[in-house]
Amino acid sequence: MIDSNKLDRHEQRHGTEPDVEEMHEIVGREKTEPQEGSQAVPTEMIVAAFVLLLFGGWYLGTYSADFAVDRYDGPAAFVGGSADNVKSPSVIDPMLMGKRVFNYCAACHQASGQGVVGQFPPLDGNPVVNGREDNLARILLHGLSGPIEVDGQRYNGQMPKWSKLDDRSLAAVLTYVRGSWSNGSPPVSESLVTAVREATSGRSAAWTAAELETAQTIEAKAADEASEKSTEAMQD
Ligand code: HEC
Repeated sequence: MIDSNKLDRHEQRHGTEPDVEEMHEIVGREKTEPQEGSQAVPTEMIVAAFVLLLFGGWYLGTYSADFAVDRYDGPAAFVGGSADNVKSPSVIDPMLMGKRVFNYCAACHQASGQGVVGQFPPLDGNPVVNGREDNLARILLHGLSGPIEVDGQRYNGQMPKWSKLDDRSLAAVLTYVRGSWSNGSPPVSESLVTAVREATSGRSAAWTAAELETAQTIEAKAADEASEKSTEAMQD
């Protein structure tokens, strides 16, 4: 038997042309070594990064719902009672929703509603909290500053405004503080907060306690406007 390969090599060694391609095959299989130094970022990489960025932005924009507290976890987060209610947002329990919103407030007023003596007034057992609803909405919409007295203790701080929260969230948190701890005052409606927001839309400064005492109630204002419209004579 004649091995044809052996014959070829034999032939090559003895005068005929060497097979250059075959000789370099092994070297050709190797990948080029990576090199140090400044090399351009591969285009695929740049494209992939942009695609990821675009997707991330689109995803946040579509699904974050402004991170609103009533939507971030879905309305189901605030629904009390049976599982049947979960799909219908109309049965959101303001106390549950308000408790969630109150996380913002607890940093200062404490989860217990007791506040911090001399710094943040207590909301538990506070006559302002259990008092005029429209003034509570004013405080949340524009803030409160200047001296107040609660429980014989003086406070002179700055209550930040929460106007960036929507009316439903504000009504819920007010309902929560009025119905929690030892407080037992009726809930605050979303429409009241909306009415106060509209009536005070021109204002940017925080309220002072003195101003709130004399602030016209929303109901009185509405009545005034109605009577102004109907007849001048009725005003005397
Ligand atoms: C950064 C701290 C801080 C946060 C957060 C905060 N408050 Fe206040 N709050 C204060 C201070 C300080 C006062 C007293 C202001 C003053 O001395 O005029 C106040 C006053 C109040 C008052 C009036 C109390 C009174 O006796 O007149 C109410 C009502 C109130 N806050 C509710 C809330 C609610 C509801 C939230 C959450 C949405 C909240 N606060 C979040 C600091 C805070």
